[in-house]
Amino acid sequence: MKKRILLLAGGQSGEHEVSLMSARGVLAALPRDRFEVTPLVISRQGRWLPPSDTVRALEQGRAEGGGESLLKRVASVSGFDLVFPLLHGPNGEDGTVQGLLTLAGLPYVGSGVLGSAVSMDKAMTKSVLESAGIPQVPSRLATRKQWREQPEAVRDLAADLGLPLFVKPANMGSSVGISKVRSEMELDAALDLAFSLDRRVVLEAMTAGKPRELEVGILGNDAPLASPVGELRFDADFYDYQTKYTEGRASMHIPADLPKAVAEQVRDLALQAFRALDCAGLARVDFFYLEDSGELYLNEVNTMPGFTPTSMYPKLWEAAGWSYSALVTRLVELGLEER
Ligand SMILES: Nc1ncnc2c1ncn2[C@@H]1O[C@H](COP(=O)(O)OP(=O)(O)O)[C@@H](O)[C@H]1O
Ligand SMILES: [Mg+2]
Repeated sequence: MKKRILLLAGGQSGEHEVSLMSARGVLAALPRDRFEVTPLVISRQGRWLPPSDTVRALEQGRAEGGGESLLKRVASVSGFDLVFPLLHGPNGEDGTVQGLLTLAGLPYVGSGVLGSAVSMDKAMTKSVLESAGIPQVPSRLATRKQWREQPEAVRDLAADLGLPLFVKPANMGSSVGISKVRSEMELDAALDLAFSLDRRVVLEAMTAGKPRELEVGILGNDAPLASPVGELRFDADFYDYQTKYTEGRASMHIPADLPKAVAEQVRDLALQAFRALDCAGLARVDFFYLEDSGELYLNEVNTMPGFTPTSMYPKLWEAAGWSYSALVTRLVELGLEER
């Protein structure tokens, strides 16, 4: 019997288009003799599209309108053996969709509610990783209420960290709402921007100099494996939204040119983080590395990383001998695994 798979794509985040590109890749790669795959696109407004609109959205690479609210379309998840929630960012990668699928009693690819929710939230991720002893840059958390009522106290948090510093909404992704604050004058605007997008904001010390950015893929459930380490290089001050999504601004180097011991340490820390955060299936774990001092910091854990055939995560596994098609098949198997 072929397994019936529902592939959810699109969604409400800044990574809507990336998700649709990834979905096209996964649709083409899942072996048809083993799986029957039905895509369902969620529009930017969060509405669930019917099959004809889904096909059109996949072709066009975006879904701006149409569809119905989830509550009207909720039956569309029934009758499947597994769901592949290929969604990034808020309302997709953050445990919300995972909660719906858990309630519906459906297995799915990737982390569960807890791992997804904690990994999506930069402040929660930091707390968990700190208690696991994983190195991270110093940071502080502020709430919108504090910023409204005690702005001086929030400015003091920033002063603790020194300049330059990064201001980040706790729950966004894609570098949306992230500012690098270089002078005190820029701080208020950065906080206003971040608080316009999220109730909680992380202030983060910048590494001592521009770091090298390393990424590693994790694959598995209770006995996860780490891929070779990759490096992302780009011609910008930091990896902002524009740099991320402008063709040709960034390049991937796999394996990264690193001392063996550093690569080993990256893989080991990534596996520790994956376990500490109770992740499952897959994750891409990102690091900052300062070559001169040898400092290594974990930056973030992405529980549903970009998944086009040319994205970092599949490329990392390709370097380990896994074809794109073998990788997506393995993810489905991991999703179906009884834990
Ligand atoms: N503390 C930091 N020190 C140096 N660079 C940073 C720091 N935080 C973020 N950056 C830069 O900003 C980019 C985006 O930050 P990140 O936290 O990864 O946001 P997102 O979750 O949106 O990807 C990073 O890839 C890096 O280039
Ligand atoms: Mg990032």
